[in-house]
Amino acid sequence: MKALEGIRILDMTHVQSGPTCTQLLAWFGADVIKVERPGSGDATRGQLRDIPDVDSLYFTMLNHNKRSITLNTKKKRGKEIFIKLIEQCDVLAENFAPGALDRMGFPWERIRQINPRIIYASVKGFGPGPYEDCKVYENIAQCTGGGASTTGFDDGPPTVTGAQIGDSGTGLHLALGIVTALFQREHTGRGQRVECAMQDGVLNLCRVKLRDQQRLTHGPLQEYPQFPNGLFGEATPRSGNASGGGQPGSVVKCKGWEHDPNAYIYVIAQAAAFDGLARAIGRSDWLDDPGWNTPAARLSKLDEMFGEIEKWTKTKSKFTVMEVLNPLNVPCGPVLSMRELADEPSLRATGTVVEVDHPIRGSYLSVGCPIKMSESPVEVTRSPLLGEHTGEILQDVLGLDGMAIESAREDGAV
Ligand code: COA
Repeated sequence: MKALEGIRILDMTHVQSGPTCTQLLAWFGADVIKVERPGSGDATRGQLRDIPDVDSLYFTMLNHNKRSITLNTKKKRGKEIFIKLIEQCDVLAENFAPGALDRMGFPWERIRQINPRIIYASVKGFGPGPYEDCKVYENIAQCTGGGASTTGFDDGPPTVTGAQIGDSGTGLHLALGIVTALFQREHTGRGQRVECAMQDGVLNLCRVKLRDQQRLTHGPLQEYPQFPNGLFGEATPRSGNASGGGQPGSVVKCKGWEHDPNAYIYVIAQAAAFDGLARAIGRSDWLDDPGWNTPAARLSKLDEMFGEIEKWTKTKSKFTVMEVLNPLNVPCGPVLSMRELADEPSLRATGTVVEVDHPIRGSYLSVGCPIKMSESPVEVTRSPLLGEHTGEILQDVLGLDGMAIESAREDGAV
């Protein structure tokens, strides 16, 4: 049995943020019914295609384990079917532009009237406020949620990260909101509205930077590369690759860095492991030197310290550095490329990287479920073709007969 078996989700999500959420719920065993516009479906089916006329990896990697029904919710017959689906589902998830579901004729009040037990879960770019009507994509959320202003180097522009903290990050927040609301429904018998704004989700993930904003009013941020010589302005600055935690850290070059853009390792010079680190890099002289042998003494010389560490790491591959420093309890991690991650046997073994078969595309790699549950194992199955399960859902979930299904098709409702 899977954790969410018996839960049915009416999945009106598209692009990345919403699909991330419903894919997770599908992996946990929910029956996720993806509603797509007849003819075109989720726009990402056709975006960034690598093979002509085949659902893109963008789509296939975000819509595993779901069923697809085509439905035009703007047509009269489509609306009737939509109402029946709302009656039969536990959750309605959507990430349309603000007001889109209202314009279809389904504001929250109406949805709640149709099914008082339903959980209506939405992702929007912003919460109530000056920008509430705006459409938002990933990088806009990274910029408006504090990610970009705090990422990059002091002398460079604001920078967005490769991790999709706006889209996938908000999808994760929404998934938590949904399962929490399902839990509360066990006690109240009622559904509720769950809303996650991408700006809020990104800001939540940038919590430590708001921490630093407040610390800044009490003096310079000593672990930032701007200390002791650079200037601090009024806002949390970009801190390059500085660790951001209580322990100094940095990315340093390893052997081969001249031609391999990922020949780097991240090293944290944690106080508890500093002796071993100093000895390993041939600087045991630091250990008797009051200018080096306390964390406070080192704070103003972090650049110099990591420069010395780098002289040593440049003589070894990132994996050798890892092999030497790990037994010394020095926290460190190689910068792994997507290629290295795709090939990493341990990630294949745990199902974090999976190979999935698709009837038209053939086999492809995907990221499997990153949450491992001992009582709810995940089996990743391929994304559905557009409308693949329309007949099956109309018949099994809504109990429509062959004639009703045929007439809905003739109407263009499905
Ligand atoms: N049947 C009929 N109409 C449908 C439909 C269906 N099954 N599915 C979607 N539509 C309609 C919508 O009702 C909407 O019509 P309207 O403009 O008349 O209200 C239209 O399709 C377009 O939907 P919309 O959400 O506006 O898509 P978009 O491509 O213009 O915008 C986003 C895309 C992502 C910018 C926007 O959806 C958004 O801001 N979403 C919230 C934030 C978000 O999740 N962003 C991250 C995306 S990864």
